Amino acid sequence: MKILVVHGPNLNKLGSRQASLYGDKTLAEIDTLIEKAAFELGIDVEIFQSNHEGGLVEFIQENSSQATGIVINPGALTHYGISLRDALVDAALPVIEVHLSNIFAREEFRQQSVIAPIARGQITGLGWRGYIAALEIMSAMEA
Ligand code: DQA
Repeated sequence: MKILVVHGPNLNKLGSRQASLYGDKTLAEIDTLIEKAAFELGIDVEIFQSNHEGGLVEFIQENSSQATGIVINPGALTHYGISLRDALVDAALPVIEVHLSNIFAREEFRQQSVIAPIARGQITGLGWRGYIAALEIMSAMEA
């Protein structure tokens, strides 16, 4: 089982970016925790971050045929990224949407997700552990 873990725009700045909202771990630290959890669960992960919607679309297009699911924090693209959503639909894989902060406790424009309706589910507000929970759920899904 191979899961794509995708991070959207600005998540490369984690650690220094609004730590009270997003936590004080860097993306590299979170990725290490994801890799450790994947090893323990006996699954493979391919992790990717881009600040560009097209880069995320290309990664999904190029890697989805070898994958069994997608865990994605789309960053701000959550709220308007239609081409990202289209790429996820075309991948035809189970998608779990993850947010570090609780998007429903924030500005109104963040409370709308264009990804959620095509996702299996959403984990929001639980910090980096949301990625780990998403991987555990993916690993329990039928391949
Ligand atoms: C985020 C929430 C988004 O609204 C924001 O644009 C982000 C991070 C989160 O993880 O809480 O970049 O996806």
